[in-house]
Amino acid sequence: MTDNKTESISANDAVYFIFGATGDLARRKLFPALYSLYREGKLGRKFAVVGLARRPRTDLQFRDDVHESIREFCRYKPGEAEDWNAFADHFSYQSLDIGNVDGFRQLKAHTEELEAKFGIPGNRLFYLALAPELFGTVSHSLRDGGMLESSGWHRLVIEKPFGYDYPSAKSLNEEISRVFKEEEVFRIDHYLGKEMVQNIEMIRFANAFFEPLWNNQHIANVQITLAETVGVEERGAYYNKSGALRDMVQNHMLQMLTMIAMEAPSRLDAEDIRDEKVKVIRSIRPFSSADDVRTRIVRGQYSNGSLKGKELKGYRQEDSVDPASVTETFFAARVFVDNFRWAGVPFYVRTGKRLPVKSTEIVVEFKNVPNNVLFARKQDLAPNLLVIRVNPMEGIYIRINAKKPGNDMTIQPVAMEFCQSCQIGINTPEAYERLIFDAARGDSTYFTRWDELAAAWQLIDPIAATWKEHAIEPSFYPAGSWGPAQADKLLQDDGYHWWPVNGQDEDNVIWVTNSEK
Ligand code: BG6
Repeated sequence: MTDNKTESISANDAVYFIFGATGDLARRKLFPALYSLYREGKLGRKFAVVGLARRPRTDLQFRDDVHESIREFCRYKPGEAEDWNAFADHFSYQSLDIGNVDGFRQLKAHTEELEAKFGIPGNRLFYLALAPELFGTVSHSLRDGGMLESSGWHRLVIEKPFGYDYPSAKSLNEEISRVFKEEEVFRIDHYLGKEMVQNIEMIRFANAFFEPLWNNQHIANVQITLAETVGVEERGAYYNKSGALRDMVQNHMLQMLTMIAMEAPSRLDAEDIRDEKVKVIRSIRPFSSADDVRTRIVRGQYSNGSLKGKELKGYRQEDSVDPASVTETFFAARVFVDNFRWAGVPFYVRTGKRLPVKSTEIVVEFKNVPNNVLFARKQDLAPNLLVIRVNPMEGIYIRINAKKPGNDMTIQPVAMEFCQSCQIGINTPEAYERLIFDAARGDSTYFTRWDELAAAWQLIDPIAATWKEHAIEPSFYPAGSWGPAQADKLLQDDGYHWWPVNGQDEDNVIWVTNSEK
């Protein structure tokens, strides 16, 4: 699914600029991703990486940092000295004050040397692993320092959060677009880089037995759970301003929902796919009144509790968190996509920190066979399910009803699973590998376009505004539990329940799986 105009092997011959090179994201995700790409031959030989941050560092120190990060976080371990040096030789570091254009002029001179040394045709990828309020300044300094004057392509890769609400996102976008064209901006939502999120398209559009049923005639509801066991860790200051709504729902949750709900694109290319996704967000029934927010959304915050025998503090006791904070660490909602395909089908979404397991799963629950015929008359039939397991286990399973062997006509639920991450020899690329590779090839399919992002903020903003205006505070749930009881009630009121995640399932289900359950 690449944009034909830009696909070519040499498109990856580029200088990669990592702004925020001494930060956590670079260390945990970006350097390991670059190394994996290198090991798989996807960076080619003509590349250079320039680390940029305020802190002084020599090239050698920087290469040591990179080595350490790869040793700790990469799915490939650093090779022997000779191999390692062949890679590390492409890395250099420059201390940079992003507001000082002279520093960018020096960077330009350094870049031209690197391009000459490695034979790179002027392609430049700027990865901003920085706080969003710095995106505008960096863009302007890049232009004013002459960094956009080379003959190749220039691309800006930016991390979330893109703004705090629609007005701030809009002004950020305006600032960036004074320097970069929309097609040069790659806004990351790392969920879109996940193998199983990308796989949704294949599962839907390449299977004759799913797509014809993919509508309100046959689907009863869809459940999207993104559960985390971690608390806010050392990110209290950021998180307390953002909360689950801005940190997870506005981006990751909505992206998964759009992938499930979108129409088949007319062509498998970035713009057509993103057109369809925007249409889904625009079809979501707004949360426009306080009543909507109260009845269709659950806001929660963890209090102290325990998980696997370990005592955990409540959110308000975490570092850098206001002890009277009303920030939500849990969010659940009943969402409707008001279009012809989905009218009347509830999409239940929930995400939270300090839940009992780390798991992201999408459950598609099908409508039952008519209740008045054959087997359904005699016994309780469980619905058919299609479950897409996104993270950390990757795979899919379907749940069907079959006959229990024996004389009485008893029905037995059977779950048939393809566990992708259990397959020996499968070493799936990390989301960041895929995304850096795609950005370098100019494929923006799995990045968020501005209109998509704008629509997402416009959906989310009224929720935050209503919470504030009507002083709707989060309900507490003990750390290590599944969130406030109201989240269960959302489904119970409609006659459904959350399906257990992670294959912790009812006793009577027979599993057929390639994993060692
Ligand atoms: C990030 C959020 O975008 O996603 C974090 O800022 C969250 O709060 C993380 O923990 C979850 O990502 P993953 O890939 O670990 O599920």
